[in-house]
Amino acid sequence: MTATETVSDGSRYARCIQSSKRVRWDIDEDVIRGRRFDTDHKFLPDGFSLVDRFTTLSSDEKRFVSQIQGRTYANIFGLVERFINAKVLELSRDHALGDQEAVEALVRFSDEELKHQELFRRVEMMVGEVLPEGYRFDIDPNDVARVVLARSTWSVLALTLDIELFTQLHYRQSIDADAELSELFRDVFLFHWKEECQHALLDEFELTRHDATLTAAERDRAVDDFIGLVAAVDGILQAQAASDSAYFTAKCGRGVGAEEARAIEAAFLAAYRWQYIHSGAKHPYFGKVLSGLITDSQGGRIEAALASLH
Ligand SMILES: [Fe+2]
Ligand SMILES: [Fe+2]
Repeated sequence: MTATETVSDGSRYARCIQSSKRVRWDIDEDVIRGRRFDTDHKFLPDGFSLVDRFTTLSSDEKRFVSQIQGRTYANIFGLVERFINAKVLELSRDHALGDQEAVEALVRFSDEELKHQELFRRVEMMVGEVLPEGYRFDIDPNDVARVVLARSTWSVLALTLDIELFTQLHYRQSIDADAELSELFRDVFLFHWKEECQHALLDEFELTRHDATLTAAERDRAVDDFIGLVAAVDGILQAQAASDSAYFTAKCGRGVGAEEARAIEAAFLAAYRWQYIHSGAKHPYFGKVLSGLITDSQGGRIEAALASLH
């Protein structure tokens, strides 16, 4: 690395620190502000819960679907932020006796993810207070983190970049005018997005820095690791789509035949794949960062793996 690159990297980390300080928020004072969730509102925006895919449901039932998905959103973020934070702490040690701005930027990143996990635990509990009994989310964040962190750092960082980019898209969808959308959930998207912007930049810095240490063969294996991680995420989404559709059919207040139940489960899975895989992977910035690191044929392998998840 040249001296110019070092300076420029340093100022990039410094900019992330400045943004982190400028946007910093508090869970109670800024986000929740003594409010509760109200089941008259949708919890996720339509373009995000893919309500149009739930073709057999009434508008009240579609609202219930968005509330179930909102609870799952809080659970999935609590889960992914566990392994993201563990990886960020690990990366901060690479800089510990070097670039102190990089250390500070990553420590702030970690601190923010710990706060986000607490926010999403609070949101999950508050949604649980207003929805019927019987919802389940049986996936343990630490079990998932152990599986994810056993894969190469490159693949974990690529998955993390995907995740941190889709939180930005989710915020942009949440600001669309929709009087039925919960103001409290809207604020969860807003405040999460404020701190995720610099996380995506730090993901890019760390992925690029780490990538430069890999041989071509190691990078090629890392691409396979990334594809494996996306498949593991998809396994979680399939299980949760089955669980959430079973909960919906049990609690929607009418009989649901086997064929309709299958269609509802498929719609939940399509929504979750959009929310947690494709919306980040299709983000232009994700393609830009990855294409700077991998060959066309490696990019083709990733695209083919993503295309199989429809
Ligand atoms: Fe976060
Ligand atoms: Fe983040």
